[in-house]
Parts: sequence; C-alpha cells; structure tokens
Amino acid sequence: MATRLQSSLRLVARQTGATLARTSVWNRPVAWATRAAFSTNAPHLFAAPHGKVAFTADKYPHMRRNNVFKKLSEEDVTYFKSILAPSSITQASDDLETFNIDWLNKYRGQSKLVLKPSSTEQVSKILKYCNDHKLAVVPQGGNTGLVGGGVPVFDEIVVSMSNMNTIRTFDNVSGALVCDAGCILEVLDKYLEERGYLMPLDLGAKGSCHIGGNVSTNAGGLRLLRYGSLHGTVLGLEVVLPDGTILDNLSTLRKDNTGYDLKQLFIGAEGTLGMVTGVSILAPKRPKAINVALLGVDTFDQVQAAYKRSKNELSEILSAFEFWDRAAIKLVKEHLVAGANDPLESLHNFYVLIETSGSNKDHDDEKLNTYLEGLMGDEIVQDGVVAQDTTQIQNLWAIREGIPEACSKAGAVYKYDISMPVPVLYQAVEDMRARLVQSDAFGDGKLFTSVIGYGHVGDGNLHLNVAAENFTAEATALIEPYIFEWTAGHSGSISAEHGLGISKNNFLHYSKSASMIELMKQFKKMLDPNGIMNPYKYLPDK
Ligand code: FAD
Ligand code: MLT
Ligand code: ZN
Repeated sequence: MATRLQSSLRLVARQTGATLARTSVWNRPVAWATRAAFSTNAPHLFAAPHGKVAFTADKYPHMRRNNVFKKLSEEDVTYFKSILAPSSITQASDDLETFNIDWLNKYRGQSKLVLKPSSTEQVSKILKYCNDHKLAVVPQGGNTGLVGGGVPVFDEIVVSMSNMNTIRTFDNVSGALVCDAGCILEVLDKYLEERGYLMPLDLGAKGSCHIGGNVSTNAGGLRLLRYGSLHGTVLGLEVVLPDGTILDNLSTLRKDNTGYDLKQLFIGAEGTLGMVTGVSILAPKRPKAINVALLGVDTFDQVQAAYKRSKNELSEILSAFEFWDRAAIKLVKEHLVAGANDPLESLHNFYVLIETSGSNKDHDDEKLNTYLEGLMGDEIVQDGVVAQDTTQIQNLWAIREGIPEACSKAGAVYKYDISMPVPVLYQAVEDMRARLVQSDAFGDGKLFTSVIGYGHVGDGNLHLNVAAENFTAEATALIEPYIFEWTAGHSGSISAEHGLGISKNNFLHYSKSASMIELMKQFKKMLDPNGIMNPYKYLPDK
C-alpha cells in the first residue's frame, strides 16, 4: 500500500511540474535512527538534582501557610498506621522529594507524609480524619501536571493514588471501561489494545500519568480532535468527598438524564473538591488503519490552509493535526534521541503532523494520498514524508511528544497553554518574541533564550513555552500578566488543557467573570467547608 501511495504522489508531482527535489521527498525512504524512541515513562527522567529546586514558599514569599490547618503530629501518623500497610506510608525525607517536586522542577513543597491508600474505603478514612482534624491534603496521580497542582505548597499531606491501579470491569460490547483512578493511562491503553479498543485520550505523559489525574485536570492531548473531551467520554466517577462520603456514580450508561450531572463538577476540579477513586470511561474501537505524515511548511498561513483542507478532504478519518515551529525542532534535535529521527532534510519554519485513523486502509490511503497531492501541487507544503510502518509512525510521534521534554532541557521553562481562534494562534508566539527582543531580554546571555510554539491546531490550542536561564521575578514580570492580557484580548482562554494549579489561579479573571468565580467559590465551600483539599490553588487567593 505504501508503494502505491508513493508512486501516485510521484505521478502527481510530475503532472503539476513540481521540482524533482520535491518529487523525491515523498518517495524517499525515511532514514530512521535505530535508537529507541523517546519514552516518558519516568516523570523525573530529566529533573535537575532535587536540592537545586527552591521551596515554593521561599520562591513566592507572598504565599503564607494557612494556620487554620493543623500541623502533622505523631498521633496523626499513628492513626494512619492503623489503617494503612507500613509500605503505604512514606516519611523518609529522600523518598518524599519525588512527591514534593513537580515535573518541571518549578515547585517544591515540604510535605512530611505521603499516604498511598489501596482502596476507596481507605481514601474515605483518610479524608474523614483529615477533615475532622483540619489537616490539608494534596491528591497526587502520576505527578506529570504542568501547573504545580499536584505537589504541596507547604506541609500538606500527599495522598498518592499509585496503589489504586486495578481494572475493575470492561464491557466488550459497549466499550465501557471501569478502573481505579491510579491506573496509568498507557497501561489502560495496552489493556484495551488486546481487546480491540483504545483509550479516547493520549498524551506524551501516558507512561506516567494516571487516569484519575487525567480526569482531575480534564486533560486534552493528542486525540481530542477525534474523540472529544473527557466531559463527553467519562461515563461516571467514584469520588470521595472531603468528609469521607463515597459518591458512587460509576455509571456505564451512555444516556442518563436523572438529575444534575454531578460527575462533571469533578472533571477538571484538580483535586479541590474531593478525590477521584474510580473512573468509568467509554473506549472507542481501535482503528484498523493508521497513517501518519510529517510535513515541512513555510508559514503559519500554510499550516492553516493545510488544516482547512484536511477537514474537507480527510474529514472523518482525521485523528490528529499537530504543529510545531523551528525553535521546537531545534531543541528536540539538540536534546533528544527523537531529534535524530527527523526525516526531513532541512529545517522548516513549521512542521505539521497529520494522523488518519479509519477502518479501511485502502480507502484511507487513497484519501490521504489525494490530500497530500493537493497540498504539494498547490505548494502549501515544502517537504514531507509518510510513515511506512508502525515503527516509523511511533518515531514521528516521538518527535512531537518529545517537545515538552526538549523544552524543559532548555532551562527554566515558563509554560503557557492557551486556546484561541486558529488564525491568531501563532501570533502569540511572534508577539512574545518581539516583546522580549524589544526589551533586550532575548538571546545568548540574556534573560530568555528561546520562545517556542507548538500545539494542537485542531483544538485551537497553542503551547507557548518561554525558556529562561532561571525562574526569577524579573523574568516573570516581563511575560506575565502580558500573555494573559494578550490571550483575553484575543477571545482566548488562559488555560486550554493543563488547568490552573498554582501557576494560573490568580489569573482566572482573564477567562471567567466575577459571578462565575463567585459561584465556583460557593461550590468549593459547600463541598469542602474546611478547605482541606489542595489549598492555595485553582481558585484565586487574591
Ligand atoms: P498529577 O500531576 O499528579 O495531578 C494533577 C492534578 O490533579 C493535581 O491538582 C492533583 O491534585 C489532581 N489529582 C490527581 N489525581 C487525582 C485524583 N485521583 N483525584 C483528585 N485529584 C487528583 N496535558 C494535557 O492536557 N495534554 C497533553 O497533551 C499533555 N501532555 C503532556 C506531556 C508531558 C511530557 C507532560 C510531562 C505532561 C503533559 N500534560 C498534558 C500534563 C499532564 O500530563 C496532565 O495534566 C495529566 O492529566 C496529569 O495527570 P497526573 O496523573 O500526572 O496528575
Ligand atoms: C503537549 O501537547 O505536548 C502537552 O500539552 C505538554 C506541553 O504543553 O508541554
Ligand atoms: Zn498539549
């Protein structure tokens, strides 16, 4: 099939008078490096030595511990020892570091206790005790969050879901999967693969993140374009409220209009309203035919043109449309093995990764073929390759999925995850770059070393990353609140998919009205009157 695709493209190139160089692009066997693709299995794979990460409390001195919260005592630990196995309690300072420091090495809490319950009943007992004694709690999944939400700020107790990782049921007719919240996303996907299904979400952190963390952040990722958000695919949740009440809403029904849809409140609540302990999610059938193409493009207008056409011409088989810029590929090449897998001969201003997923390979190949011929004939793309097998598909994805890690290797990374109308998507990157140049703060030896843009074009979601030498107040002041004002001024959201955590909570007013924020505070007060769940985050404290 791949041969047919190539020869057909070659034919069109001749017909349209495209140059030999461009013709050969599609025909060129992809020169893949033999090394293993990038894997995200270890959340702290590239973390700086922990000692170098400053405590959040020192870095942000305006933050004050809320003295309503009790400090942990020996008595408290004795209670937890009475309900959990010794191996489910972590107190040794070296072991605590992993739970206290976030993936970006930006935030560092000072928790003295990590609890790892292995049942919903244990979670219930923990939260009830903490609520009764006003002990603050941070729920933690795979700790891959990018807004500092999953790590403590002060001495909150970390409740890690890593021991709750059982798949409870799977319905091979409907595709409803019910599992513990601590199941790792990739493990679930592998389980479903064996049964002909797949998880409706996919992210670069799949090897570490938990489904409970995904639900709690309402993670978007690489398949949202096709399967929609978790607000649609989650069928039910089991949640433990701060007072220990177990809310059993683990429905597997697709339709259920009986009362308020309570689960929606916990999707994206970032652990501020309770702990998600179980998830029921609708898995789609695994597509039989998958194609991935990587394109090199000159301008963002051309990226948009390619996207518009993909909606028309690939329509129902289009499953991902991702882009990244020259700064992103440079970092991937510099820092990651995946960079050696770049099959395009020269550097381009923009890259587009298109994935199609369908049930009929011949049909999909033909559609993709026609689409690519059109792009090439109309000179919308300058270069490109189509993966010829599963390994090549994985290697192309590894370039895209490696960008967050490559960025983090470039220094201290300020991450902005904004959504807005696609036509202005890249302008945010250009305007930020221009601002930093104008301020004489960009380039070698300056405050900022790189401004990178990538993201999910199909979702109108830009990841603007600004790499600095260090996280400093001076650097922060140059880019915040500028970027939030810019986003609000372009009818965008200041957090498309990563959430608010501690890094965006005080900027919520750029995306939500005062009355909406007030109602959110009322929900919080109703469900968590003592405020023990993930304090200092999510809702504005100013
Ligand atoms: P954590 O980081 O542990 O926690 C995140 C938040 O959820 C915290 O506020 C925590 O308190 C809360 N929480 C966790 N578990 C529970 C629970 N069981 N009950 C209640 N609250 C809980 N995000 C995207 O949206 N799209 C992407 O494409 C994407 N790609 C990524 C790629 C990389 C390489 C990395 C490092 C991160 C990426 N992320 C992405 C961000 C991150 O992976 C997601 O936010 C993910 O959903 C977090 O899951 P986690 O289990 O690691 O949660
Ligand atoms: C991604 O799309 O790669 C993720 O959201 C992570 C990131 O923004 O770095
Ligand atoms: Zn993303």
